[in-house]
Amino acid sequence: MQISGSIALVSGANRGLGRAFATQLLERGATKVYAAARRPETIDIPGVVPLQLDITDPDSIAAAAATANDITLLINNAGISTGANLISGDLETIRREMDTNFWGTLNMIRAFAPRLAGGAILNVLSALSWFAYDGAGAYGAAKAATWNLTNGVRLELVAQKTLVTGLHLGAADTDMMADYDGPKIAPAAVVKAALDGIEANRLEVVADDWSAHVKASLANDPSQFYPQTVL
Ligand SMILES: NC(=O)c1ccc[n+]([C@@H]2O[C@H](COP(=O)([O-])OP(=O)(O)OC[C@H]3O[C@@H](n4cnc5c(N)ncnc54)[C@H](OP(=O)(O)O)[C@@H]3O)[C@@H](O)[C@H]2O)c1
Repeated sequence: MQISGSIALVSGANRGLGRAFATQLLERGATKVYAAARRPETIDIPGVVPLQLDITDPDSIAAAAATANDITLLINNAGISTGANLISGDLETIRREMDTNFWGTLNMIRAFAPRLAGGAILNVLSALSWFAYDGAGAYGAAKAATWNLTNGVRLELVAQKTLVTGLHLGAADTDMMADYDGPKIAPAAVVKAALDGIEANRLEVVADDWSAHVKASLANDPSQFYPQTVL
């Protein structure tokens, strides 16, 4: 899969990582980039094709799929992080995390997969697919579900030769992490790693050391990663 000559759709392309994806795809020679957003009038990237898309709205997905019927690369980037925990959090908010991060991604794949034979899908996941963090319980559960969704759809799409790549990252410098004071990766660096990974036919891209550390910890007993939870 080469970025040059591809026709891509990026969800949530109006800001954050999505904006960086759309920009870099054009820079790397994509023939056409559909920059999809809930409010397409907020797209300000020269050269892209703005497209209305709310990934929680089946009608909006169907309309986008009818318009962008020529794509070879789908970047499932749109996501939300509400800060809701699983027991103390508001149940409707928790459901919204699943509706967007899990169901939204799945519905996008179901709508676009038939056109992506020989093409590629990138799902933007998180280091939080692999660990729980107090204050992001709902987000972590949704990203963990979307991680195994990524593995599951890859199995189903191999017959039509669609590359399905999962992208894991820790903190990147976007609106989503505006309140976080720790080190953050530049969105452009995350996007470069992801697009390089697609071109190398990688099934998974782990964009930073923290994500690699968290992934490695899964081989150990959970008491090592969560010593504070041992009774
Ligand atoms: N930033 C990080 O540290 C980090 C770490 C790990 C993973 N991620 C993941 O990276 C992806 C991009 O996040 P970001 O950091 O760029 O966040 P962001 O700056 O908050 O941007 C989120 C984007 O998703 C869009 N979006 C949300 N709900 C949508 C919906 N229902 N339909 C269509 N678009 C929707 C937003 O559109 P509006 O402008 O309309 O709200 C916005 O364009 C997400 O999947 C996130 O979970 C981020």
